[in-house]
Amino acid sequence: MDRLLRTLLFSSFLLLSLFATSSYAQTQNCSSFAFRNNQLFATCNPLPVLNSFLHWSYHPDNHTVDLAYRHGGVTDSDWVAWGLNIDGSRMVGAQCLVALRNSSGQIHAYTSPVTDYNTRLAQGELSFRVPRIAAEFTNNEFIIFATLVLPSGRTSFNQAWQNGGVSGQTLQVHAQSGDNMRSFGTVDFANGELGSDGGSSVTSRQRRRHVHGVLNAVSWGVLMPMGAVFARYLKVFKAANPAWFYLHVACQTSAYAVGVAGWGTGLKLGSDSTGIKFNTHRNIGITLFCLGTLQVFALLLRPKPDHKYRLYWNIYHHAIGYTVIILSIINVFEGFDALNGQKNWKRAYIGVIIAIGAIAVLLEAFTWFIVIKRKKSDSNKYPQNGTNGGNAYSNGTHQQQQA
Ligand SMILES: *[C@@H]1O[C@H](CO)[C@@H](O)[C@H](O)[C@H]1NC(C)=O
Ligand SMILES: *[C@@H]1O[C@H](CO)[C@@H](O)[C@H](O)[C@H]1NC(C)=O
Ligand SMILES: *[C@@H]1O[C@H](CO)[C@@H](O)[C@H](O)[C@H]1NC(C)=O
Repeated sequence: MDRLLRTLLFSSFLLLSLFATSSYAQTQNCSSFAFRNNQLFATCNPLPVLNSFLHWSYHPDNHTVDLAYRHGGVTDSDWVAWGLNIDGSRMVGAQCLVALRNSSGQIHAYTSPVTDYNTRLAQGELSFRVPRIAAEFTNNEFIIFATLVLPSGRTSFNQAWQNGGVSGQTLQVHAQSGDNMRSFGTVDFANGELGSDGGSSVTSRQRRRHVHGVLNAVSWGVLMPMGAVFARYLKVFKAANPAWFYLHVACQTSAYAVGVAGWGTGLKLGSDSTGIKFNTHRNIGITLFCLGTLQVFALLLRPKPDHKYRLYWNIYHHAIGYTVIILSIINVFEGFDALNGQKNWKRAYIGVIIAIGAIAVLLEAFTWFIVIKRKKSDSNKYPQNGTNGGNAYSNGTHQQQQA
């Protein structure tokens, strides 16, 4: 049995490290990008097309955004532009930041409001203030740095980005097909989310949030409490011994393996968006990981059932176990709040929790019924010995010796 456990544990750790490495590799280009002068931004999102990335820090107190827009895969005889469209979407109305190599051979950045499809991106004031704009070009990539004073009262906007050729002094029209016609969407500077403007495709961050939510809600939020129900209520049936123990272990170790994967996705989400803090959710998550890990190791270190320390081990195991379950459920709800707007998920989860709770209440009543009945018949059989082994749970623990 111990060998089986160790194998289970070991394979879950293997899976986890694989998972961590691959998720790191995937997002490496965005959040680990090192700007010159060690500039740091709280949030980074790859834009869906045209090798572009948007990095930014949002300051709620003065409603400004410091951003860096990177556009790769171009040469220095190209222009690049990124803009917010305050009242409309896509190109017309976009308040753009533009970068190119100008006629004196220097990388030049300026602002340009787009008023119609015939624009040549002439320099002009935007509808909001841009106190700072600069650009650089390295490794076939333009980077525009700017500070925007956002229009008041909102943080979510339509955005568009683009590139095209420069011939002589003139900016040429961008390509009229492929990705150049798909380079628009939405950005929310406060919560860090990008979206497509029809809302039809889900961005990678949203997808990762959903994966994180499902992994954790299923593992910590459903499997863990179910495993506890197995342990507590199957024990009472003599026929379910030692099956309950294997069920409990299988349930908790798989919950732990999936849960740690989910926990990893959470850490990744958190580190990719340091400007957006769900501190309670994060702290409970870290606490859960520690307590969960402790539980798994406690399993390997448990004393034999008749060992004099077994009682203390039991108390400890139950205390941590129930704490984990309560914190897990709280944190799943914290997670729903962080996702905000996932009402159906929340309802579904509430349904599942109520079902598990109801089953537990029924089984609890049934267990007491059995225990009392058993006690009665025991004391009838051995009147002088009535208090011995009176509790179904400690009976179960003793019988688990063979496991
Ligand atoms: C990351 O960047 C490297 C080189 O800049 C490129 O080869 C690789 O495809 C990029 N990976 C992703 C996931 O964008
Ligand atoms: C806005 O506030 C942040 C700190 O909260 C500060 O670093 C930044 O310089 C301010 N920006 C402007 C344009 O005042
Ligand atoms: C080229 O760009 C640099 C840097 O922004 C600027 O100082 C210079 O005036 C520009 N030259 C012309 C001809 O626009």
